[in-house]
Amino acid sequence: MLRIDHHLTADDLSKALRRDAVEGLTAHPKSLPPKWFYDERGSELFEEITRLEEYYPTRAEREILGDRAGEIAAATGADTLVELGSGSGEKTRLLLDALGAAGTLRRFVPVDVSGDFLSEAAAGIGAAYPGLEVHAVVADFERHLHLLPAGGRRLVAVLGSTLGNQPPAERVSFLGDLHSGCTERDTLLLGVDLVKDTGRLVAAYDDARGVTAEFNRNVLHVLNRELGADFDPAAFDHAAVWNARAEWVEMRLRSQARQRVRLAALDIDVEFAEGEEMRTEISAKFRRERIEAELRAAGFTLETWWTDSAGDFAVLLARP
Ligand code: SAH
Ligand code: TRP
Repeated sequence: MLRIDHHLTADDLSKALRRDAVEGLTAHPKSLPPKWFYDERGSELFEEITRLEEYYPTRAEREILGDRAGEIAAATGADTLVELGSGSGEKTRLLLDALGAAGTLRRFVPVDVSGDFLSEAAAGIGAAYPGLEVHAVVADFERHLHLLPAGGRRLVAVLGSTLGNQPPAERVSFLGDLHSGCTERDTLLLGVDLVKDTGRLVAAYDDARGVTAEFNRNVLHVLNRELGADFDPAAFDHAAVWNARAEWVEMRLRSQARQRVRLAALDIDVEFAEGEEMRTEISAKFRRERIEAELRAAGFTLETWWTDSAGDFAVLLARP
């Protein structure tokens, strides 16, 4: 059974994009929030990133879930798997299989901002798991957590180190909101990337074939289409920089020349200096103590910590 709830109307999206674009493009330094990467093309480019040689996180997380899904199912006893930022839901199938084998699974609730991509992924999962109730929710997990279906014993998963794409302050309030929405029978499963050698970290976000660069520039295509902007995406270079103090990789778009961009729908012009950089994304890398402390501050207790054989990535289970 497949059901899709839409909490993001076209109007709502366009308002949120306008607000973010005005705020980000008139700030110093300029920045744009990452959720706007993910239109249909952005979601497809992200899928391509997950298959890149340089992008180890997806493989590492799949290894952990492959080894540990049975333990996760036994520890949680969940009947509902809620996945925030579910994307293609490819790795999620390992969890669905294990919860199915344990005999507890009833319902899957994938949540994503990328509506068409989510609908296709949810339909695919519905077809592959007859008898499973698939209740997809097109929503912004920063604003709509209270609108997710309640009831049952829920395992809430945030995989792919998506948690690390939020800056620390937002992350803390997001974890707090998650905690408020949990009952004591629920559990939280997080996939987080770990601090490691800088060269490998940067390469994961600056691949040789330029797929990540294209993904980064996709946000400019989104602004052109949605806000009648006239960005020339080819006039911006992709940069991935390790910020050692904050322990995150920063994605930036660097203007190759001095240029002026018009955003017709906002009736503003934005000037870029030659070499000026605009931040489009951060991807925080974690150490166990840090994420454990952030979880504790939000009211969660870390119960189990698993890493892949190379120690590159961690999946952790926490309880409210
Ligand atoms: N979980 C998948 C995809 C990770 S990419 C994996 O591990 O491979 C991050 C996903 O989160 C994308 O599908 C993107 O569309 C979604 N996303 C990003 N910001 C979001 C937000 N604010 N609300 C809901 N989904 C969001
Ligand atoms: N959650 C993913 C990560 O932080 C998202 C991501 C992967 C990403 N590659 C990217 C975001 C490149 C922006 C640019 O690893």
